Amino acid sequence: MKRLGMGLVGPGFVGAHHIDAVRRLGFVDVVAVAASNDASARRKADALGVPKAYGSFEALVADPDVHVVHNTTPNYLHVPVILAALAHGKHVISDKPLAMTAADARVLLDAAQKAGVVHAVTFNYRGNPLVQHAREMIAAGELGPLHFIHGAYLQDWLLEATDFSWRLDPETGGASSAVGDIGSHWCDLVEHVTGQRIVEVLADLTTVIETRLKPLASTEAFAQSGDAHRESIRVKSEDLASVLLRFENGAKGSVSVGQVCAGHKNGLWFEMNGSRASVRWQQEQQNELWIGRRGAANDMLAKDPSLLAPGARAYARLPGGHQEGWADAFCNVMRDIYGFIAADKKPGDPRPPAFATFEDGYHSACIVDAILASHRAGAVWTRV
Ligand SMILES: NC(=O)c1ccc[n+]([C@@H]2O[C@H](COP(=O)([O-])OP(=O)(O)OC[C@H]3O[C@@H](n4cnc5c(N)ncnc54)[C@H](O)[C@@H]3O)[C@@H](O)[C@H]2O)c1
Repeated sequence: MKRLGMGLVGPGFVGAHHIDAVRRLGFVDVVAVAASNDASARRKADALGVPKAYGSFEALVADPDVHVVHNTTPNYLHVPVILAALAHGKHVISDKPLAMTAADARVLLDAAQKAGVVHAVTFNYRGNPLVQHAREMIAAGELGPLHFIHGAYLQDWLLEATDFSWRLDPETGGASSAVGDIGSHWCDLVEHVTGQRIVEVLADLTTVIETRLKPLASTEAFAQSGDAHRESIRVKSEDLASVLLRFENGAKGSVSVGQVCAGHKNGLWFEMNGSRASVRWQQEQQNELWIGRRGAANDMLAKDPSLLAPGARAYARLPGGHQEGWADAFCNVMRDIYGFIAADKKPGDPRPPAFATFEDGYHSACIVDAILASHRAGAVWTRV
């Protein structure tokens, strides 16, 4: 396998997992990280065992040993980082959301297509073996035509007024907080599993914690701040959302999204009901898939490669009974993307399923924009 050099901009919470995931592939060299200044870049590079450290993303994207640039910066930096990488003809793997608005995401999609490079967005839940199994079941017609596609993505890490993240500031996170941050994952996932696009939304958004106590020293996502020095700020973006959905095949749906829901750590789940059967998958019990039937006993399918649909089998890396998790699915996504790059495939060539592109990132941004527009208009049906 051809060796590829990886460079990562934004070595924070999720950046470390991008590095872990590509290291498992065996043919990717982690060449460099770039942070916001030389000292923090060196510190992060040493902690992650990465040889080169850059104090600016402009320097990293110019490094000839870097073939693929990963973008794991806060959302407001996605446009400049990705455009700089594309200007140097690098393949780009960006974390979600691709951009803070659909207009910006469109600019990135156009620039990536013009550059002729491979472009990807890490909608990592696609990489779960039982997600792929559910997708194959639906594609094979085992559920019959779907009439209801519903679920939730709930977390509790923003429940207290002292919890803060750059995600809550529209300047750094975007106009949407919870929907852009995690609702985007849910929408991509159910569209991927069902093969049906969301065409209309009706949204009711809420800011439960309207005043937050922001630490004066900046903190990375999910880091605990012991800092007693805080400033009081008014939050405008949503931390809770209820959204009704209409899909292109006429199926109805709904999703609840919230980051202020005590007890829910990473509570992503979806259920699909068709004329013959149903499926439900819960991220926190990701090694099981519930299959519901009317005229026969329901099943709980365990993640076991020997029981999975042929296309889903490659996403299970361990035998049955050996639990797989978030990081394994993340690695599966990287395997799909890097396998494509290493095989010298062109952007328009058929892609493996867990590989989401900037087209998907742009579509996702259009859904988020439509949800914001629906809410602003007083919760009215709004076309994506
Ligand atoms: N796919 C997922 O499940 C998932 C999970 C978490 C975050 N994310 C996404 O990943 C991105 C990063 O989120 P995070 O939670 O890791 O945030 P984070 O705050 O933990 O990390 C961001 C990093 O970027 C660095 N940074 C800031 N300015 C920079 C600059 N000018 N140049 C280089 N680096 C700079 C920060 O110092 C920090 O290390 C976001 O877009 C987020 O939506 C995705």
